[in-house]
Amino acid sequence: PPSAGGGGAGQPAKDANGNDIKKGEWLKTHLPGDYSLTQGLKGDATYLIVKQDGSLTDFGLNAVCTHLGCVVPWNKAENKFKCPCHGSQYNADGKVIRGPAPLSLALAHVVVTDSDVVTFT
Ligand code: FES
Repeated sequence: PPSAGGGGAGQPAKDANGNDIKKGEWLKTHLPGDYSLTQGLKGDATYLIVKQDGSLTDFGLNAVCTHLGCVVPWNKAENKFKCPCHGSQYNADGKVIRGPAPLSLALAHVVVTDSDVVTFT
């Protein structure tokens, strides 16, 4: 599964291909096996947020639109998240800037281990 290493001790976080992860970049993560699909968590797409020193913040953004649940891609050129389903938009912090989404993107707890990043929404 996609994973990311680094992020601790001031080292830049890396994606599965060894490239630096930058704020707003896309990374799908998978939760540990003891979290079941019925909780709606396993495999949730999550945006990881990289701090100035290159390490990851403890919280990422859950990429699930708060309107009807489409996965929301990051639009680099416009510096915002744009939902492809009904046009909701979120700023880089996940706050709603255009409806119909009723709420900001949810925060996802991020845990960095030696070789993986796991997220908990
Ligand atoms: Fe995203 Fe409707 S599901 S705007």
